[in-house]
Amino acid sequence: MAEPLYWCLHPPVMIDQKQPGLSADEEAVYKGFRFAARQGSWLSGRFAAKRLLASILDDGLPYDQIEIVNDALGAPQAMVSGQNLGGCLSISHSDGWAAAAYAPAGLRIGIDLEVAEQRSERFIQDYFTLAEQGLLATRDELADRMATLIWSAKESMLKAMGLGLRVDTRQIQVDAIGDEALLSQPGWFSLSLSSLCRNGNWTGFWRDAGAFVITLAIILESGRELDLIQVK
Ligand SMILES: CC(C)(COP(=O)(O)OP(=O)(O)OC[C@H]1O[C@@H](n2cnc3c(N)ncnc32)[C@H](O)[C@@H]1OP(=O)(O)O)[C@@H](O)C(=O)NCCC(=O)NCCS
Repeated sequence: MAEPLYWCLHPPVMIDQKQPGLSADEEAVYKGFRFAARQGSWLSGRFAAKRLLASILDDGLPYDQIEIVNDALGAPQAMVSGQNLGGCLSISHSDGWAAAAYAPAGLRIGIDLEVAEQRSERFIQDYFTLAEQGLLATRDELADRMATLIWSAKESMLKAMGLGLRVDTRQIQVDAIGDEALLSQPGWFSLSLSSLCRNGNWTGFWRDAGAFVITLAIILESGRELDLIQVK
């Protein structure tokens, strides 16, 4: 049977000093941000995750009963009515928008939402492996788009490992991007991923979302299939 992986894309959330839908602890975090931009992105991420989880668990569940906490390394975890929900939750925010993904059990996942934009030569040399730089060289006319995709997939992998940027980004690699990367088409397309520092069967996906690219990285037992389910 295919393993479900739920995901959603959430628009910007209006910042309000009396923000409904947050637990008491979340409200304290929310009020503690010094910068409105971080407050807004954090809020969009929380609402993306709450929307996703309510729709999987029970559409009538009040958002303040779903609490998203970060572990010591920053990875998000969901609590529902005070109980750890388990499974693996991942959040990303970019330019006010947010994406969230959740896999009920047995999978490590990471999601990343990234504005498609130009990356400098220096950035690519510092953070991409030689093989990834080679991939860019083969498609000169699409190098910006492919660089965004590669960077986003790396961030998704770092999240799936639960470690974030504590890992050298050259320890993980996008090995191949299908030719679909050349076109703006709807739907998920696969990416080939590998890691020098985390064993396991890595699976990757990406999709176009207007000004954004969304990527997913999953550590999946070999032979298992995935069912990517969008929540609106
Ligand atoms: C995880 C990370 C790679 C994502 O960076 P980003 O692309 O700039 O930001 P995104 O919006 O895509 O993702 C941020 C979300 O990633 C999640 N995240 C953070 N650390 C994580 C980790 N170790 N594992 C999995 N997910 C993580 C959080 O949910 C965070 O959102 P929140 O803080 O609002 O809950 C990066 O934030 C990171 O490495 N953070 C932890 C280490 C750190 O703070 N280092 C500081 C300087 S190196």
